Amino acid sequence: MTKGMKFNDYLAGATNVKLAKLLEGMADGCKVISHMVNNAGLLDVLGSHDTTNVQGEEVQKLDDLTNKILMDYLRSSETCAGYVSEENEHLETINVNGTYTVAADPLDGSSNIEVAAPIGTIFCINERISLKGGDVVEADFLQKGKNAKAAGYFIYGSSTILVLTVGKGVNAFTLNTKDNEFYLSHPHIHIPAKGKIYSINQGNIEKFDDGLKDFLAHCSTVDKESSRPYSLRYIGSMIGDIHRNLLKGGIFIYPANKGETKGKLRLLYECIPMSFVTEQAGGEATDGNERILDLQPTGFHERSAIYIGSKNLVEKVGEFMRGSKAV
Ligand code: AHG
Ligand code: MN
Ligand code: MN
Repeated sequence: MTKGMKFNDYLAGATNVKLAKLLEGMADGCKVISHMVNNAGLLDVLGSHDTTNVQGEEVQKLDDLTNKILMDYLRSSETCAGYVSEENEHLETINVNGTYTVAADPLDGSSNIEVAAPIGTIFCINERISLKGGDVVEADFLQKGKNAKAAGYFIYGSSTILVLTVGKGVNAFTLNTKDNEFYLSHPHIHIPAKGKIYSINQGNIEKFDDGLKDFLAHCSTVDKESSRPYSLRYIGSMIGDIHRNLLKGGIFIYPANKGETKGKLRLLYECIPMSFVTEQAGGEATDGNERILDLQPTGFHERSAIYIGSKNLVEKVGEFMRGSKAV
């Protein structure tokens, strides 16, 4: 695999032809989304839809459009059996003869649409358990992250980049705006083992557990040997924050509030895919107690706390959370 190779040539070399077809469909759909996001201010796509989704959140026009685009392209790929998304309350059967299911956040960070900050599309691909020819069932989607066949995200930032794992490391492909094709730009991504960036909505600090507060105090305490204070960077789009930390080293945290067990982010189409990518790049991801990829999902829109990124920081925050560490 050489830098500069076309994504389609990478797929042509894949042994799993059906999965390759599905990924090609995802990539084609996200090229359309990328164009829409890049030109959002010139198209009638900005602003809210005046509706709320199943989770009671305001739906932006682009949330809805990107969801429809993804479904159309997945249908054309012919290998996708079913689809679950942040924007759909129930599962959608795409093709009863398909092999795979897709769980997606069609547009992550949608509150950043209007300010041209990075946003993206997150996806997780599972192999269905139910028999081909019949309906897809809940259990096809509610699989542990460690069983996923592929996962990744398309980030629409200063470049559009597809970051992908099929369980053999992580590669990233940048969209060339001249010919509208993805090319391998970041082969074999490894997250730095020692990160120096922490990303968290610190405005919520009063709601955090004491262990997490202590960890944040640790991050901002001066210590030359461990290069502290670390830098706080928070875009407010998980995809943007995790992508930066993946390349530069760091931790992204969205905790559960004090006394609660679940956070804000969704297990199936946010936490699991980002954790699969991060682990494949040599990092770690937990919900504060357990490895995210070991959790058994119980519902499509279930939420989880997440601590994800470089080993040193995920392990360190774990020590603070267990109360075994002083600042
Ligand atoms: P979405 O736009 O798909 O609803 O996701 C938004 C998420 C995530 O991207 C981000 O990290 C988080 O919400 C930010 O939440 P806060 O504003 O509470 O910090
Ligand atoms: Mn999201
Ligand atoms: Mn979203």
